[in-house]
Amino acid sequence: MSALSELGKEITVCQRCDLYKNATHAVPGEGPENADIMFIGEAPGANEDQQGRPFVGASGKFLDQLIASIGLSRDQVFIANVVKHRPPENREPLPSEIAACKNWLDHQIAIIKPRMIVTLGRHSMARFFPDKTISKIHGTAEKRDGVIYFAMYHPAAALHQGNLRSEIEKDMLKIPGLLDEMQEKPQAAEKPQQMSMF
Ligand code: URA
Repeated sequence: MSALSELGKEITVCQRCDLYKNATHAVPGEGPENADIMFIGEAPGANEDQQGRPFVGASGKFLDQLIASIGLSRDQVFIANVVKHRPPENREPLPSEIAACKNWLDHQIAIIKPRMIVTLGRHSMARFFPDKTISKIHGTAEKRDGVIYFAMYHPAAALHQGNLRSEIEKDMLKIPGLLDEMQEKPQAAEKPQQMSMF
């Protein structure tokens, strides 16, 4: 069994916080171990909890469309969440729950070694862009140690606030260019560098 599958199995029996008590299934995440891009959302919702798979509800449909808009399909990228069990009533994950889950995501990233991490929504952004505001930094990228971090609104935001839909679609379309740019210009790892602020 691959390291990623082993890890997924451990996540399914995680009891590091209380969220597992109300959940049907853990949602470790899915995608190939050699994915170039990782999309990281917030936490499973009701559909994800039922199926044990990330982004399979309404916001997942939109995420699939967004991924298709850059010529990829969801089986070519890794899709995960900051928190692996569904918070009851879809409430936001608590800081203690995010902290309890931190090592799982860190470990997934260490195995996959993606070229790009796309944060979906505030909680995922906060993990990689601490002290930033999503309305200010969505659609911008930062390169650190050879990895591009790119912040986007959560796809569910488009379902609640229709005016964000085109913003999210526009941000998504920047991804191929950012990946090309990174390939063309390898740079020293020691100096975090701000790039392509749109
Ligand atoms: N929202 C998320 O953040 N993650 C999912 O997996 C589904 C909805």
